Amino acid sequence: MKNAGRVVALVFEGIKDKIVPGISTQDVADMCEDIIRSNGAYPTFLHYYDYPGAVCVSVNDEIVHGIPNKKRILKDGDIVSIDVGATLNGYIGDACRTYPVGICTENALRLVKVTEESFWEGVKYARPGAHLGDISHAIQAYCESHGYSMVREYTGHGVGASLHEDPYIPNYGPAGSGPVLKEGMCLAIEPMVCEGHFAVRVLKDGWTAKTRDGKLSSHYENSIVITKDGYEILTKI
Ligand code: MF3
Ligand code: CO
Repeated sequence: MKNAGRVVALVFEGIKDKIVPGISTQDVADMCEDIIRSNGAYPTFLHYYDYPGAVCVSVNDEIVHGIPNKKRILKDGDIVSIDVGATLNGYIGDACRTYPVGICTENALRLVKVTEESFWEGVKYARPGAHLGDISHAIQAYCESHGYSMVREYTGHGVGASLHEDPYIPNYGPAGSGPVLKEGMCLAIEPMVCEGHFAVRVLKDGWTAKTRDGKLSSHYENSIVITKDGYEILTKI
């Protein structure tokens, strides 16, 4: 799991200065795929339930599962979520970052920052004996206290030899609810946060999920493992 997670981290390290105005979302996916494959791994999302891209690239009001497209050009002021899965020796790492493209508004940057911070607020509760809902609740409370809303249709998930394993991990819900965490569990925790209302619309391509109100959305994810006394991030170098 650490080796697979490391490849995902190498992707973000390799692309972070290359997300600039004028490149296409396909260019983004190609850069990611090159790094995944040159490290001996396979892009997990490619052909997963017929998903056609190597990674997901979701711009502005697209929440998740944006399909890479050579005609979709990133422009100054966009925010772009890049969701990367890598399979190595049968195990999967899954993580996402949202990048500002060029110069963004303060509002956009604040959404991106709060989304990442909510991950760290939630993961504070990740340890044996805690309830999964403690993580979910902390993420929701943090984002809502900044005036944002949480997507309901998509959640985090267990991760391992399959991309999506039990338990599913909502980014909302009461503390003290859900399964009790145990050492060795691997979890992909992924707040998906909306500037406006959380209602979702899926495009005719069958994948791209957008906010109904057209307002921005941001996404941040890491795969973690529950350790004896807390957690470790797997999708890091
Ligand atoms: N991180 C996303 C998830 O956990 C990526 C899946 S995209 C898919 O759902 F195309 F593979 F479905
Ligand atoms: Co995921």
